[in-house]
This record gives sequence, structure tokens and C-alpha cells, in this order.
Amino acid sequence: MRSRNQEQFRHHCIAIIWVIFAAGLFASPLDMAWADEPADETDVFTVARGGLLYDKWYAVMERDAPEGTHPAYPAAGKKKGASTWRCKECHGWDYRGKDGAYAKGSHYTGIKGIRAMVGKPAAQIAKAIRSKPHGFTKDMISDGALEKLATFVSLGQIDMDQYIDRTAKAARGSAARGARLYQTVCAVCHGFDGKELNFKDEEKPEYIGTVAQANPWETLHKIRNGQPGVPMVALIALSVQDQIDILAYTQTLPVK
Ligand code: HEC
Ligand code: HEC
Repeated sequence: MRSRNQEQFRHHCIAIIWVIFAAGLFASPLDMAWADEPADETDVFTVARGGLLYDKWYAVMERDAPEGTHPAYPAAGKKKGASTWRCKECHGWDYRGKDGAYAKGSHYTGIKGIRAMVGKPAAQIAKAIRSKPHGFTKDMISDGALEKLATFVSLGQIDMDQYIDRTAKAARGSAARGARLYQTVCAVCHGFDGKELNFKDEEKPEYIGTVAQANPWETLHKIRNGQPGVPMVALIALSVQDQIDILAYTQTLPVK
């Protein structure tokens, strides 16, 4: 009697495992298309993934870049094409839009930032991303990705002005402390001098040092959340001061 129960139990378990497996196989192909997700996703992972999507959602989700220029991108703006669909292009690396680093220069749009959305319900933010003037459809940003993006906007922003001197573009951190983290974490891929990976070309190379000096806000966003579409670590789980110390050190690396 007992063994028959056990046998039935075993069959049940096998059936359940099959259902889970099949559900996985046939889950939304759109959500499956993008990089691996942990089964027991933590809140900090959700936020970092959202930060990556904010940077360049179509690279994270491995989708074709959107065609044409975003309808809400101002005609007077200097950019066109796919990049105008990136959240950062209108709202900035410092999340301050026209009131931050994009107040002037080739990225100027006159569009406000997203700082006012800190702590707001993710559902409200998600709705704004789906509706005008945004109009991001499910075919562009899946529901699963939308949730992460909205969570990032609500919980993942930091006040960069607190950590980066806007005029001097200097990180308010300790390069000496940052060097310890850089050498043990970043150097594996970027090299001790930051020149192992060149983001541009031979003629006009762009290294970590180049980006960190020219655009500390972008560098900080990437230190926290990673780089879309490539395997790079996200250090958002470290203290903000650790992240700023790394930024301070990268600002000492060679620019060419
Ligand atoms: C082409 C430019 C453009 C792009 C790209 C863009 N936005 Fe916006 N966004 C706007 C404009 C314009 C507004 C202001 C709308 C208004 O005030 O009615 C706005 C407003 C917002 C707001 C509300 C801010 C507030 O204080 O009310 C949030 C949140 C937001 N955007 C998030 C995002 C996210 C996330 C992305 C990327 C998926 C994104 N936006 C991409 C143009 C853009
Ligand atoms: C596992 C490998 C890996 C590690 C570790 C890593 N990165 Fe990266 N990182 C990459 C790759 C790959 C790219 C993209 C290179 C390209 O686009 O040519 C990249 C790009 C970047 C960029 C983007 C530059 C741009 O303009 O697009 C920055 C900034 C950066 N990394 C900083 C860091 C820092 C700081 C650390 C340490 C906290 C770090 N990375 C750790 C692999 C890594």
C-alpha cells in the first residue's frame, strides 16, 4: 500500500516536472529571447537589469534596433535613428535631462529628467512608458522588461550631483581605494591600464579612462548596472562610495 502511494507520488512529481519544463519551453518567446534570468531573481538584480534597459533596451533584449527617429525626439536635436529610442538619450545618464549634463551640447533635447519619479509606483511609471509621448510597444519592450525598467526608474536612480562635481567632472571619491576594486574586478577584462578593450577604433581609441574623464555620469551608470549586450559585471550591490571610488580611479587611467 505504502509503496504504491510512493509510486503514485513519484509519477506525480515527474508529471509536474514535465509541466514546468514544457511551460519553460513554450513561455513567451519574446521574454525568452533575452539574456538569462535567475530563477530566484533578487530585487537588486531587477533594478540593475532595469538600468541596463534604460541604457539600451534593444541591445539587452537582443532585438533589432528601432527604425527611424523617435517621434518625441525634437526636430532641432542633433541625433537621429535608433539612438533616439534609448531612454538615456532623452533623459540623460544623470537622469536629469535638460537640467543635467545634457543641458547643452550635441545631446541637448530640452526634455526633462526622471528624478521626480524616484519612489513612485512602478505601475505608474510603466504606464507612462507605454503611452504618449513614448509609445513603447510590447514588441519593443516586453512586459517583463517593462517591469524591470519601471523598477529601475523608481528605485535604481542615485543623485549623481552628490557624487560627481558637475563643473570639474570629478568623482568625489578615493582613487586609492578604487584602485583595489579596479585591479581585482575590472582589470580582468579591461586590463590594468584600461586599454585592453577599445570601444572605438585604432585611429581614435576610446578606453575606460577616456570615457570616465569625458562622461563620468555614463561611467557611473555602467559601473552600477553593467554594459548592455555584453558580459560585464554590475556593481550596484556594493556601496555607492565603493562605486564612486572606482570611478575616481578610472579617471586616472590613460585616455589614449
Ligand atoms: C525621444 C525622447 C524620449 C525617449 C527616448 C524617452 N522619453 Fe521619457 N519622456 C519624454 C518626454 C518628452 C517626457 C515628458 C512628457 C510630459 O511631460 O508630458 C518624458 C517623460 C518621462 C517620464 C515621466 C517624468 C515625469 O517627471 O513626469 C518617465 C518616467 C520617463 N519619461 C521614462 C522613460 C523611459 C524609462 C524611457 C526608455 C524606455 C524613456 N522615458 C524614453 C521623452 C522621451
Ligand atoms: C567580464 C568582463 C568585464 C568586466 C569584469 C568589466 N567590464 Fe566593462 N566592459 C566589458 C565589455 C565587453 C565592454 C564593451 C566593450 C566594447 O563595446 O567594445 C565593456 C564596456 C565598458 C564601458 C563602456 C564604455 C562605452 O563607452 O560604451 C565602461 C565605462 C566599462 N566597461 C567600465 C568597467 C568598469 C569600471 C569595470 C569594473 C567595475 C568593468 N567595466 C568591468 C567587459 C567587462
